Amino acid sequence: MSNTTNYQDYKPGLEGVIGGLTSISEINSDTSSLIYRGINVHELAEHASFEETCYLLLNHKLPNKNELESFTKTLRSEYEVPKEIYDALESLPKHIHPMDQVRAAFSLIASHDPDYHKHDHDANIRKAIRIIAKSGTLVANGYRILQGKKPIAPNSRLSVSGNFLYILNDGKEIDTKTEKLFDSSLTLYAEHGYNASTFACRVTVATLSDIYSGIITGIGTLKGPLHGGANEEAMKMLLEIGSVENAEHWIRDALTNKKKVMGFGHREYKNGDSRAFYLTKMAKEIGKDKGNTKWGEIADILEKVMLDEKNLYPNVDFPAAYAYYLLGIPIELYTPIFVMARVSGWSAHAIEQLENNRLIRPKCIYEGPKSVSFEPLMLRK
Ligand SMILES: CC(C)(COP(=O)(O)OP(=O)(O)OC[C@H]1O[C@@H](n2cnc3c(N)ncnc32)[C@H](O)[C@@H]1OP(=O)(O)O)[C@@H](O)C(=O)NCCC(=O)NCCS
Repeated sequence: MSNTTNYQDYKPGLEGVIGGLTSISEINSDTSSLIYRGINVHELAEHASFEETCYLLLNHKLPNKNELESFTKTLRSEYEVPKEIYDALESLPKHIHPMDQVRAAFSLIASHDPDYHKHDHDANIRKAIRIIAKSGTLVANGYRILQGKKPIAPNSRLSVSGNFLYILNDGKEIDTKTEKLFDSSLTLYAEHGYNASTFACRVTVATLSDIYSGIITGIGTLKGPLHGGANEEAMKMLLEIGSVENAEHWIRDALTNKKKVMGFGHREYKNGDSRAFYLTKMAKEIGKDKGNTKWGEIADILEKVMLDEKNLYPNVDFPAAYAYYLLGIPIELYTPIFVMARVSGWSAHAIEQLENNRLIRPKCIYEGPKSVSFEPLMLRK
């Protein structure tokens, strides 16, 4: 070991390392709770709209009635996605995952932003609003394009959630209860401290790149199954299990074979994910309404075995998976829906990073060979 290397300072996966300061959200692992700008996320999911949550994240406080009206009006005026973006998405292969499509789409949308050349605080807030507004339209119409269908014009009379579900539902409005349940899930997914995608987003903007680049970095990072991609994998697992009778055998077998069970475990929560508690209740309510309690019953068995055998709790992605399934949402849209929600958190973090910026550049410990002599090309075997 060289005298410049301190292995004691090295934490694999940066576990427990403080990466920065924030006043956007706080995870309390002891109490399994989460606050956005001081407010408990359960209260927001229950009593506030996703729009109010976005306002809170971007503006440090909940909006009053007039502020909300004005914010909502601006958001709705930005639902539209330029036709050139849809034309470009049409040219992509139809077999790609919607996350790749959404990532590509945001690269293109960036170049259409009227504030493209501006990077000050106010311009970044305007960009954030456009990003939040367009993401639902984009995810839903992007999926239509992958299905060989034509995009539908967004409905500016509807909320972000309502507009997304409207496009997905072939231009038919969805009932208010479904809209509210879906909306609550967006609030729960909106923000979560220095998770991998948010951290990656902050690293990008800290180089004084731009907010869209931060969002695109976030999307690329969220895609992986250890992060946002877990909600899709969790539903595939539930479908593979298929029945309540098969659940216990399946999960024990998975653990024996050292399989990672998607939708379980969390770096920050060791006594359970606060968002999962809320979403499990919600998913079971949807199951009851739909007369389909099977997924909730399978989930109960998996949760019990995972807790008994591994001391692991479900994270937000586990109940989100079967809640969305019960709402009839295609599985490959679960992670893009996470994007729709998390663009609000990423934007707030990008703006916060730039308010007090310093390049993010950790050290690493070199473990390769040293003093290797250079061999000319002709002599190399
Ligand atoms: C979220 C996650 C990446 C956190 O990772 P982490 O803090 O680095 O924890 P590790 O992956 O190092 O896991 C620690 C131990 O718990 C086990 N473990 C953690 N999550 C597990 C899971 N979902 N299924 C089975 N075992 C799990 C690991 O195998 C490891 O055991 P070991 O020490 O015997 O090798 C991890 O729990 C995971 O992969 N979960 C599944 C993916 C998921 O749901 N992601 C969404 C997160 S919101």
